[in-house]
Amino acid sequence: MRIGQLLLSEKNVSRVDLIGIVSHVLSLSRERILMEPERVLDEAEQGKIGHAVGERRKGKPLAYLTNEREFFSEPFYVDESVLIPRPETELLVEEAIRIIRTKDCPVVLDMGTGSGVIGINLLKNGAGSVLCTDISPDALAVARKNAHALGLATGIAFVASDLFSALKKGRSFDLICANLPYVALHEWEGLMPEVREFEPKGALVGGMKGTELYEKYLGEIGDYLKDTGVLLCEIGSEGQAAPLGAVLKKSGFEVTVLHDLAGRERVIKAFVREKAGHPREAGRGFAGGGGAEPR
Ligand SMILES: C[S@@+](CC[C@H](N)C(=O)[O-])C[C@H]1O[C@@H](n2cnc3c(N)ncnc32)[C@H](O)[C@@H]1O
Repeated sequence: MRIGQLLLSEKNVSRVDLIGIVSHVLSLSRERILMEPERVLDEAEQGKIGHAVGERRKGKPLAYLTNEREFFSEPFYVDESVLIPRPETELLVEEAIRIIRTKDCPVVLDMGTGSGVIGINLLKNGAGSVLCTDISPDALAVARKNAHALGLATGIAFVASDLFSALKKGRSFDLICANLPYVALHEWEGLMPEVREFEPKGALVGGMKGTELYEKYLGEIGDYLKDTGVLLCEIGSEGQAAPLGAVLKKSGFEVTVLHDLAGRERVIKAFVREKAGHPREAGRGFAGGGGAEPR
């Protein structure tokens, strides 16, 4: 069979996905696949493509079939032990890079790193050092593999930890980022089968309401953030920013919410509010109020 025939013959898998599968099996770019419709596929290639197409028909996401997803213009290895990185998360990364650029050699924590997309991009974009943590050792192995593949040998470390449990008290960060699970248990059944049947539930469900894990995390975060530090966390469904923001405000944080391109509340940004009677050290402080950035 020729590539062109194959692309025309399959009706149940989208053309984009078919091209992705063929390009992965033949180790050729998508452009080359389109430029070589007359190329004859040998038996082994047809077998591998047929198998992947069958899996795709059953709903397996393309990223798990090709073991790749692009994020922030970098190719990341993914498998079923990690969430497939979502484009919405780029908003958090963009904001994190803006914050990093206001600081000198910032120390960053990426909590719930999964495939490592946040931490790795922050190290590539100016972080002094990054600690990536996750409760899943399999996810950490993927993150480590990605750091290695993207040429990051130093400045990045990986630690298995249930939230902050494996981190020493007193260890503090200039920036803490997290994209922790935030889907409510009752929403899980309503998710697309492609997500529900293939992506790790532990990377998606944050508790009955969805916000329980974040509530616990935000309750502990004050012990690990420098006085001048900033935290960013990605949130999900509408209505999560208010209760999570309230947890932070109660602990003395100044909170703002960033919206994604669809206008949805997507990222909570917070930093420690200056306490009355406890002025910050000269040069380390920031102009209180007005949402000014701590340096
Ligand atoms: C929504 S995924 C995000 C993955 C990645 N940061 C991203 O943005 O694509 C959430 C990650 O949090 C991890 N996680 C879940 N519960 C955790 C916990 N209690 N402590 C640390 N990590 C946790 C999951 O294993 C998963 O990798």
